[in-house]
Amino acid sequence: MSEHNQPLVSPTAQAIDDASLQRHFGGGHDLLPLWIAEPYLEVAPPVIEALQDRAASGWYGYETRPEALGDAFWTWMDRRHGWSRQGLRTLVSPSVGTSIGTLIEVATEPGDGVIIQPPVFTDFKPLVTASERNAVRNPLALGKDGYGFDLGGLEQQAMDPSTTALILCNPQNPVGRVWTEEELTELAGICARHDVFVIADEIHADLTLAPHRFTPFATVAATADVKWAALHGPIKTFGLAGVCDTLVVTDHGDLTDRFESVSSRLHLTRNNVFGLAAAQAAYLEGADWVDAVLALTATNVAMLQEGLPAPLRLIDLEGTYLAWLDLRGLGLEVPELATWLSESARLALSPGHWFGREGAGFARMTIAAPTDQIEEAVARLHTAVDGLA
Ligand SMILES: Cc1ncc(COP(=O)(O)O)c(C=O)c1O
Repeated sequence: MSEHNQPLVSPTAQAIDDASLQRHFGGGHDLLPLWIAEPYLEVAPPVIEALQDRAASGWYGYETRPEALGDAFWTWMDRRHGWSRQGLRTLVSPSVGTSIGTLIEVATEPGDGVIIQPPVFTDFKPLVTASERNAVRNPLALGKDGYGFDLGGLEQQAMDPSTTALILCNPQNPVGRVWTEEELTELAGICARHDVFVIADEIHADLTLAPHRFTPFATVAATADVKWAALHGPIKTFGLAGVCDTLVVTDHGDLTDRFESVSSRLHLTRNNVFGLAAAQAAYLEGADWVDAVLALTATNVAMLQEGLPAPLRLIDLEGTYLAWLDLRGLGLEVPELATWLSESARLALSPGHWFGREGAGFARMTIAAPTDQIEEAVARLHTAVDGLA
């Protein structure tokens, strides 16, 4: 039981896609899967109840009520982050990937450059290149105090007139940085000076670990005079990627019109009746569950900090439930490290190079999971490190 008295358990029928586990990691090693960016936990009880009630209604016809999703979202944002909807437009989109693809289409031209800052979520680059734009890489800087923006590199790239957008990840998956107001203000200033549109992927916004606090890009954009749109939704916070829609927030009227025109052309706004029920229950009744997940994540962070065998270490985790493990001390090349993780440690983790070449030597582990699973992962890492001696 967590301190909030919420039972956080592994789902009885864990929603692990065995075929995809097999495809990525091979089989036969009794792998412990901690690689997908979602809680390895049963979802919040109010959400389960709402879905059961909705299923019991026996009626699943058209239910297009985007405003109901927006209202629940803003109630949550106001309560959790003190962020109000005033002056902002809220659009519904089936997924964050759909939103990024659509924003690239409406805010940039074919051949333009779109900046990404690896190591970063795997979908960003293919979303850019599939739209016939160029992915312009401005890797994060890794210093002794952890990861930061390379603002000098950003300025250089942003001043190229063909560079017209940047995809920001706040908090950043992977690496777990929760960007501060100062850092975001500097980034927004550069993008404002060079007229670079900021697509702020804030899907992990709720998953910040104390004392860190999420700063919505909207709040810094208000003073920087930069064009932006932010991507939100309940999917990562509540583990509802298989059922819920997501949201786009912006203050840009013209962009809103263009986004809506694509959504309407492709009929992208038809809510799923279960998604609506789940999102409302999550945002209006799921706060205790999220607090419990954050407390569990903090416990698991402490376990990794204390328990990882040398030379492995945890990069300081400020937000997300995605631990970024520094395995460079093992001295293994990319393929050997991936094989060592799956065959020697018997862990299905996301190898760091999936997130860009700067991630080589790292691995991402989902730690919104029962503590005994993280304990087991640590024990397997000990055995595998001993095996290298
Ligand atoms: C930062 C980030 N953005 C987007 C997504 C995926 O969102 P969707 O499945 O809605 O495209 C993920 C999933 O892990 C993510 O971590």
